[in-house]
Amino acid sequence: MRRKLAAGNWKMNGTPEMLAELSTLSSGDSGPQIIICPPAPLLTRAADVTLGSRVEIGGQDCHANASGAHTGDIAATMLKDAGATSVIVGHSERRADHAETDAQVRAKAEAACRAGLTAIICIGESEEERLGPDCLGIIAGQLDGSTPDTATADTTVIAYEPIWAIGTGRVPTMEQIIETHDMIRANLITRFGDQGAQMRILYGGSVKPANAADIFKAENVDGALVGGASLKASDFQPIIDALAAS
Ligand code: 13P
Repeated sequence: MRRKLAAGNWKMNGTPEMLAELSTLSSGDSGPQIIICPPAPLLTRAADVTLGSRVEIGGQDCHANASGAHTGDIAATMLKDAGATSVIVGHSERRADHAETDAQVRAKAEAACRAGLTAIICIGESEEERLGPDCLGIIAGQLDGSTPDTATADTTVIAYEPIWAIGTGRVPTMEQIIETHDMIRANLITRFGDQGAQMRILYGGSVKPANAADIFKAENVDGALVGGASLKASDFQPIIDALAAS
């Protein structure tokens, strides 16, 4: 049984005052895992606020190296020390803003694993790729290139986030979501066997309270990576509840 996961990516948003929202999130005793990834300066305070609650804390990126001359970067071990249990790697905004490649994302995921963090590895196509002839092949290539050979269901979560659906209010059709998640599952099983069957696959891109329940009906959607709707508990809690009910 794969444990469902509701992950919130605050991106470059959030103030100390907003952390109070976190303490109100809940999912019952055996409900979905909840992870919130605030900006790095808020990590320790977020970890304090959520101590003893259902909410775990994650980073939004890490460096592939353990330490060194990398101004502005953060090592996976530092995230762990700050109280994180996971880290997002390879988000399309980092791939676009910082020209991150699949190989770099894979190295970051390996660093996360060495530090004892779960790597939430993001993949997903542009709109042009979605309309082109080999969309699934492109996503499969990203999956293959960004995921470490040593990945297990404990160390790795895959987040499928179509770039054109992020922050736009547009979501793929259910057929597209099902087809893409099924393809990702099949590839994970081919490469990792039973571990691939157990790995969680999240959908991300304009997940809202109004569409979450439908998206969670897909067999290989194990949860969501949520941006804008994770900033307020009044938006994120209904998404967690829809996941719990799915
Ligand atoms: P939105 O939910 O705001 O579309 O963002 C999705 C995302 O990029 C999460 O990582």
